[in-house]
Amino acid sequence: MGRQFLLKIFSVLLFAGSLAAQESIDALVERGGELFHADIGCWVCHSETGEGLVGPSLHFGPTPADIFDQLESNPIMGVIVSEMDPSDADLVAIAMYIRTLADLPLDADLPGQWLSALAAVKANQADQLEFAKTPRDLQVEAIETFASVQETWTRRSKEGSLTSHYQTQVITTFDPGEPKFQPQPGKTYFYENVGTTSSPSVLFDGYAPPESNQVVVGDAETKEVIASYMLPVNLRAVVHTSLMSPDGRYVYIIGARPGGDIDTTTNLSTSATLLKVDALTLQPIKQIAIGGRLHHGQVFRDYVMIDYFARDPDGLAIALLDPETDQIVSGVRDVDLGGYVYTAWTDRDYEYIYALMEPAGYARGRSTGMSAAVSMYQGRLMAMRPFWVAKIDPDTWTVLQEYPIPGYRPNWLIVDAAKEYMYIVNSMSNASKIDIETGEVVWTNGTGIGPYGASLNADESELWVADKGEAAHHLGRTITIIDTELGHAVETLYGPYKTDHVLLSPNGKEMWATSNGEGRIYVYDVETKELLTKIEMPGNGDAHGLIWVHYDENGESRTVRDQGNFHGGINPAGGAILDY
Ligand code: HEC
Repeated sequence: MGRQFLLKIFSVLLFAGSLAAQESIDALVERGGELFHADIGCWVCHSETGEGLVGPSLHFGPTPADIFDQLESNPIMGVIVSEMDPSDADLVAIAMYIRTLADLPLDADLPGQWLSALAAVKANQADQLEFAKTPRDLQVEAIETFASVQETWTRRSKEGSLTSHYQTQVITTFDPGEPKFQPQPGKTYFYENVGTTSSPSVLFDGYAPPESNQVVVGDAETKEVIASYMLPVNLRAVVHTSLMSPDGRYVYIIGARPGGDIDTTTNLSTSATLLKVDALTLQPIKQIAIGGRLHHGQVFRDYVMIDYFARDPDGLAIALLDPETDQIVSGVRDVDLGGYVYTAWTDRDYEYIYALMEPAGYARGRSTGMSAAVSMYQGRLMAMRPFWVAKIDPDTWTVLQEYPIPGYRPNWLIVDAAKEYMYIVNSMSNASKIDIETGEVVWTNGTGIGPYGASLNADESELWVADKGEAAHHLGRTITIIDTELGHAVETLYGPYKTDHVLLSPNGKEMWATSNGEGRIYVYDVETKELLTKIEMPGNGDAHGLIWVHYDENGESRTVRDQGNFHGGINPAGGAILDY
């Protein structure tokens, strides 16, 4: 009806008396109100009152040309273009209605003035200039959209079962020593693994790093460190994640190189050992050769799932390790997956493994993804081959599905409680929500610089992203909170330097952000977003891999949360919540 309706109104405005004009304005306002409050209307982002929500306040009284300009240029409002596609008359009506929300005068001349202004804007826009394109421009055009990546996707992995094995070897065993603390029934403890390469010199002068790595344990409720143990220097390595056995009795961390030479470098591309540490004495009990250097790990069924930085020539990319025997049960190699595994994730029931995949060749071996991302930030690369996720059946190590990613160098993946969507965080400063069944990208949007770890809040309405500065400069200092439904930031928190992982605690109330830079854990209240406390790591050692262990009323321990997921029946999103 748009144009005709409007013509009628203007004839009325021009030729009838003021009473009729008032009626027409009322009609416009009413129509505008309907559009503003439509299912997918302006209120969704600008609030019922127009005072603003994720979109700014509209109480300044935007003209139809202002709104048109936004619809043309603001991708967040693309949903209005696709769902409402407002005509000029609709824009006039909406603009009129917004004025009533802001108590601005409804001058009868406005609609006429607005329509000519809108016509002028559109006439200008019609003048699209044409410029010559170079052959290179055309090449780039052919590959620049994500749609072109999806359309041309060719399976990277081999078909069928890709199961591989690796024979682990216990190099040394150690006396576990005496317990450093006495766990109490009903209590929950946090474990952290800290190293020697944090950089609190960004905060204060005269920082002297600790001599060696330590396993730290603390009270999850009071957030106080209870005990820690520093490894002998000859066992130390560049710190990375810590993980625990499902029963919460053993911690696994990176140990020194297999040859026994002291690893004082920050080089992650050499092999290293795995140290099995007693959760009560915090001292190592075994040093194990696992075919490479541990990167990340987490509880997986009765096992722990690990992935690697450097791999030995016969090493795996992802492996399942049985903590009873310290043998690798099964795993998979990069060569069978068609690219390098960066890290691996699972869902709450351990149904599938989701491997974050990197195209090979931007640097030697597994350094490819980091190197490519750094080159992109520093302007040496202008485009990259796509990164993807491989969904793997852990029983046969068959790749069931591949998902190309609308971003570069994915670092982190979370599967929601209903196992419907996965959230993926990319080094090149964006994050996506992807439908697991169809592979459809629900949204992709910007985060802070070099985002790394992420966590959903208990009702899964928010995705908290740790803006580490990954590949950018490694001194990111924010946490971006994204609305999981709408897909854009609703809040940015000032955080610690180089905040690496951010994890929802098993009581569902706190987000714990580990700062590699400062050697601290920042704890935020999920509800108020306030910083509750900073937990200082001994000697400001850089914090990696946060785990919570719960002791039940009978004093039986179990791992309830690690960097991968919630475990042992606990899950604030649709499972039991620990109440402390
Ligand atoms: C999906 C969310 C969303 C919806 C729906 C939406 N907007 Fe917006 N709108 C935004 C965001 C976010 C911004 C701010 C963009 C920016 O800062 O670049 C914005 C900006 C604007 C602005 C510019 C404000 C200024 O300060 O310059 C106007 C005008 C506007 N919207 C009008 C509307 C109208 C009218 C509708 C309904 C027809 C609507 N928007 C629907 C999210 C939305």
